[in-house]
Amino acid sequence: MSTSSGVLLLGTGSSLPVRSLRNGDFPTSLDTSDQWIRTRTGIAERRIAALHETSVSLGLAASRSALESAELDPAEVDMIICATVTPEMMVPSAACMLQAGLGCRTIPAFDVNAACTGFLYGLSIATQFIRSGSCRHILVVGTETLSRIADFSDRTTCVLFGDGAGAVVVGATDEPGRGEHWFRLYSDGSRGDYIRLNGTRLRTPASSASEPRPSDEFDFLRMKGREVFKFAVRTIIDLVNESLFECNLTPGDIDLVIPHQVNQRIIDAAFADLDFPTDKLMVNLDRYGNTSSASIPIALDEAMRTGRAIPGDRVLLIAFGGGLTWAGGVWTI
Ligand code: ACO
Repeated sequence: MSTSSGVLLLGTGSSLPVRSLRNGDFPTSLDTSDQWIRTRTGIAERRIAALHETSVSLGLAASRSALESAELDPAEVDMIICATVTPEMMVPSAACMLQAGLGCRTIPAFDVNAACTGFLYGLSIATQFIRSGSCRHILVVGTETLSRIADFSDRTTCVLFGDGAGAVVVGATDEPGRGEHWFRLYSDGSRGDYIRLNGTRLRTPASSASEPRPSDEFDFLRMKGREVFKFAVRTIIDLVNESLFECNLTPGDIDLVIPHQVNQRIIDAAFADLDFPTDKLMVNLDRYGNTSSASIPIALDEAMRTGRAIPGDRVLLIAFGGGLTWAGGVWTI
């Protein structure tokens, strides 16, 4: 197999549930307000999956759209990587369900759990397989139904999140200057308690010969809001500086920055500390909230479809989330 120098963005797609939940739609019993949510987070509304919608159905729609924009048939996909913390079920993986749903060949398909950093982890893995020459086309999906794990009686978390899916198709290129990329991935499990979801009931046996079935251990997504805030601001600053330094670039060399769509206040606080033009920031969290691993591919798809990003642009991708995990990437799309 031959190796190639560049990894090209061949297509993008996204899918969002139709139902919008605006700040004013939360029940009075939650004791929140449009003004509180807007000023603390920048979020005005988020999309909420209908009962028949799942991370797989949203991911399928996003994938079909990405394949269509790449002008590729599902039979031409060589690998599927799906980033999600809200798969429809533990086994089979969401990626395998996408493989079946799209009608792909019996290609490798697997999920990545790196919380909100998952899409960049997946994209980075994909670039390795493309560059080695093992795969020609890889579908990378970020898809979440966070409304299924949000505690709608906890105003400190439920207002932050939304549902949706984004997908990209990447492939090899030898065109000079196209598809250059740099990715760096990190984790720190010692701070895992900052963002936690014990939703799998696997801490205790499901059944045993001598004991009755233990109590249901399902819990909602829990978060140490202030610690996450500080971690996120510091991480954005560090990743922007590291990306520019490692790639020997200045802010003027970057066409668009797509940060994880976490919270406007976090993004503002980080960029207030950076000598970086904020008009290069792609932000759509006001409409979709925080969609975890789907946030970057949804924003990238919107940027491509609206002309905010065009082929040949150099894009800076910044992600961080539970684990803790974080990652930065510079990519000429
Ligand atoms: N509506 C009204 N009041 C609220 C709400 C709400 N939705 N949420 C919290 N409050 C109250 C609190 O109960 C508290 O009340 P009290 O003073 O009577 O105890 C008061 O507001 C202040 O609470 P703080 O936690 O100090 O509020 P803060 O200004 O820190 O904002 C927030 C909270 C928005 C969660 C902030 O800490 C934050 O943005 N953290 C980052 C969290 C985040 O975005 N996580 C995303 C998931 S992880 C990821 O994607 C990486």
